[in-house]
Parts: sequence; C-alpha cells; structure tokens
Amino acid sequence: MSKIKKIISKKNKSKIVCLTAYSKNIAEEVDKYVDIILVGDSLGSVLYNYSTTRKVTLTEMINHSKSVRLGVKNSLMVVDMPYKTYDTTTKALKNAKKVLKETKCDAVKLEGGRKIIKQIKFLIKNKIPVMGHLGLLPQSVKGKFKSKGKNDKEIKQLINDAHLLEKNGVFAIVLECVKTPIAKKITQNLNIPTIGIGSSVHCDGQVLVTDDLLGLNQTKIKFVKRFLNIKKYINLGLKKYASEVRSKKYPSKKHSY
Ligand code: KIV
Repeated sequence: MSKIKKIISKKNKSKIVCLTAYSKNIAEEVDKYVDIILVGDSLGSVLYNYSTTRKVTLTEMINHSKSVRLGVKNSLMVVDMPYKTYDTTTKALKNAKKVLKETKCDAVKLEGGRKIIKQIKFLIKNKIPVMGHLGLLPQSVKGKFKSKGKNDKEIKQLINDAHLLEKNGVFAIVLECVKTPIAKKITQNLNIPTIGIGSSVHCDGQVLVTDDLLGLNQTKIKFVKRFLNIKKYINLGLKKYASEVRSKKYPSKKHSY
C-alpha cells in the first residue's frame, strides 16, 4: 500500500500524528513517532523571525526540505508551497515539480479552497499528491490571527471548501483554528482525513510545530501545549562545556590528537 493510501486508511481507525521538521537531525527523531512530517513554511517565523510566512521563498523551502529528507525514513514527507508560488496553474505545476524533484518529498501542501481549486486540480491531474489547508490560512492573514467558523458565512464556506478539495482529489486537509463543532462536522462528512491544529480532538489527526511543543520556540498560541522544556537540557550541556573549557578540563588527552 502506498504511504498516502496508508494515511487515508487510518481514518476512523487510528489518529494520524503529524509534526513539522526543518532539518535532518530533528527529522530523524520526529520520524520515529509520526505518520506525516511537514516541512512547514512556519519556518519563516520560527527560524528567521519573519513577520509573515509570505516572506518565505521557494529556495528556502527546498533547502530545508533537502535536509529533512536525509532524516526521514518512514513518514510521509509533505512540503509547504510558499506564498505566490502557486497563484496560476502553470506556476503551481512548475514549482511543485521542482519541489518534488529536488527534495524527493511525497506531497505538497497548498493553502486555500475554492480560490485555488484550479491549481489543485491541475497538480493532481499531473500526478502531484496534494494536501489541503483550510481555516486560518497564515499566507492570507494580514492582521491578527483569528479562529474560523464563527458565523454562518464562514461555516458555509469552510464546509463547501472541504467538500470541493475532497472531490478534486486532495488526500488530507489541515484544519487550522477551526471552531470545534465545524471541525467535527467536516471530519464526519469527509472520506479523507482531517489534520487539526487548534481545531479540537474530533479531527482525524493532529499537527504541531515541533519547536513549539519542545519549548525551543517560545510562543503563547492557544493551541500550543509545551510537552517539554528542551531549553533546560540545552543549557545544561552548554554550561558544562563552557565551564570545562574555562577550567581546562576539556579537552583532555582523550579528546586530543
Ligand atoms: O507551516 C506550518 O508549519 C503549517 C502547520 C502548522 C499546519 O502549515
């Protein structure tokens, strides 16, 4: 069974675990525990302090993805298509082909529903596996990040978009910051899995930014649960190194040629 079919087959059976990775060493560890590794364009804010993911370039995504690829053995590897790299069908195909060829990833993720359906259709027609992304779309947000599905118009659009994406062949949809009842309804009414981020336990799977859950990236977003304060351990090691260099304990003969 292909990796994508395996992901779809988990729907209504077992939860799908997804996390981000931006480089080889983290990807290697993440790969042991997840079904999907996403090279998210969140790397723009997490690693480069960009004010918006709109500033992330295709070259940055490809370079980070090449590194991630070295650490991924088992998971399905998905790469985010950055802003303005899929605003026409021809551009979307050219750039998605480049991403797949250069990074050897398994699929790409595009943000949006009806507004980009032509591009999604075109990619899938050309045998490029696509993951959808609905709800809060960071590439489209200019001001504050707000949850989605709060009024009838938003609810109708979300539900219609989810069905449209499924009908056109995406293999899964990320639901970001979608109100619980709407995320639940969409999940129950689709045959493909939903992967939630801030969208409740009712989604078929969950995704988080690895740096957030490990406490490497300090953020106060509502949906982030810090599972570990990794900075504590990093500091222990660094402090010990600095102290041993200063006291000439390191390097001993054992570590010298
Ligand atoms: O860019 C990203 O990391 C994402 C996930 C958080 C869903 O799109």
